[in-house]
Amino acid sequence: MPAIKKEIPKKDKEAVKPELFQSPKGMHDILPAEWILRDKVYKVAKEIAEFYNFSKIETPILENVELFVRGVGEVTDIVEKEMFTLRTKGGDKLALRPEITAPVMRSYLQHGSHKLPQPLKLYYLGPVFRHEKPQAGRYRQFTQLGFEIVGGESDPLYDAQSIIATYRFLEEVKVKNMTVQINSIGCRVCRPNYRRRLVEYYKKQKICKDCANRLDKNPLRLLDCKNEICAPVKIGAPSILDSLCSACKAHFKEVLEFLDEVGIPYSLNPHLVRGLDYYNRTVFEIFTEGSDLALASGGRYDYLAEMLGGRATPATGVAVGMERIIETVRADTAYQNHRFRPKVFLIHVGEVTKKKGLALIEEFRRENMPILEALGKDSLSAQLERAAKMKSPIALIFGQKEAYEESIIIRDMENGVQESVPLSKVVEEVKRRLKA
Ligand code: HAM
Repeated sequence: MPAIKKEIPKKDKEAVKPELFQSPKGMHDILPAEWILRDKVYKVAKEIAEFYNFSKIETPILENVELFVRGVGEVTDIVEKEMFTLRTKGGDKLALRPEITAPVMRSYLQHGSHKLPQPLKLYYLGPVFRHEKPQAGRYRQFTQLGFEIVGGESDPLYDAQSIIATYRFLEEVKVKNMTVQINSIGCRVCRPNYRRRLVEYYKKQKICKDCANRLDKNPLRLLDCKNEICAPVKIGAPSILDSLCSACKAHFKEVLEFLDEVGIPYSLNPHLVRGLDYYNRTVFEIFTEGSDLALASGGRYDYLAEMLGGRATPATGVAVGMERIIETVRADTAYQNHRFRPKVFLIHVGEVTKKKGLALIEEFRRENMPILEALGKDSLSAQLERAAKMKSPIALIFGQKEAYEESIIIRDMENGVQESVPLSKVVEEVKRRLKA
């Protein structure tokens, strides 16, 4: 029966807007070609996490808005400007997670994880959403790899360990010329003093409107302001390192000693405060030369659990922006040379061979041997061309005659030499040839 062509009325054609063929602003498809490199980077992430004994955790992509308002802080860019929020039919107010530290702590508290041996070392890898102005390296949907060490003591060893794991991961994926910027922003005891000094200083300066609004509520954030009015002002601001109490000083000194011990270079940046409210003591960001966008950032957050209404739970951690990593290492030749593992290519000719071809693929799978195929309607020459393009060392040619005789042709793609073997022996023969 001839296919009935349904005409789209002219009016509807006009109604199909070009935006329908466009992913939302700042959100991108990750196409098959991109996965070659991305999978490799993810694999390293998993290996590093396992080596340093982090166990995987996955939390929902949606959380209660209140979790971030309380955890990340009301007077932060993330909560004030960047959350994607929605109301469910039942009336709950949820947010697409703008970060994963607060969700991990929520999960820890929800499941009474303090009863497990402490600390819990957790890692995650997943999408995060922030309504930011999209630009290179800054997206509205991006992927974070995170390491969190939750519970136990507020031990500087854990701060160092989250930095070490991140640094080794970045080294392993071939990020070059890294700098770790590090600071301590004190604790409940010493920070109020510093805040007072900071407010006194800033009150005498000319600052941007945003900062003027934040001065009373969250003065530390002024050190983070990128506005050109404020940038020169921050140079003269008092350093928090001069205001640390003796416990915070000792804690910070130990973190730095641990980093020295394993040869991780760092530079002190007394203006580094981070844009999230849950931090205390150690904060850090890791950069690569030529970019002012952090590849990874984190710090200690001993008060987050209490901010969420839970029991006091010291914790520290870090998150890595995977898109920023991928963009940084993409040009590395080690990745450019990386291709799929060479695979055998199954060529079939004629309809009858399709079924047996499918069964043969399953046989290869049982032996854990990768095999490529083009079970479409392409001609023999088109399939051979494809096999050559995929750099398959061996092609298996399965024609009507072979199907009938229960045999298959093995073709050496390098020299074109062909040999017919019984179908029941083909897996074994391919294995032997690939090993040789
Ligand atoms: P964050 O600095 O907001 O910290 O984000 C961590 C990392 O995510 C950044 O260093 C950056 O690489 C990446 N990133 C942030 N925003 C974007 C964006 N719009 N597009 C692409 N990449 C981006 C946190 O999220 C904390 N939860 C980190 C942490 C974990 N602290 C303790 N534990």
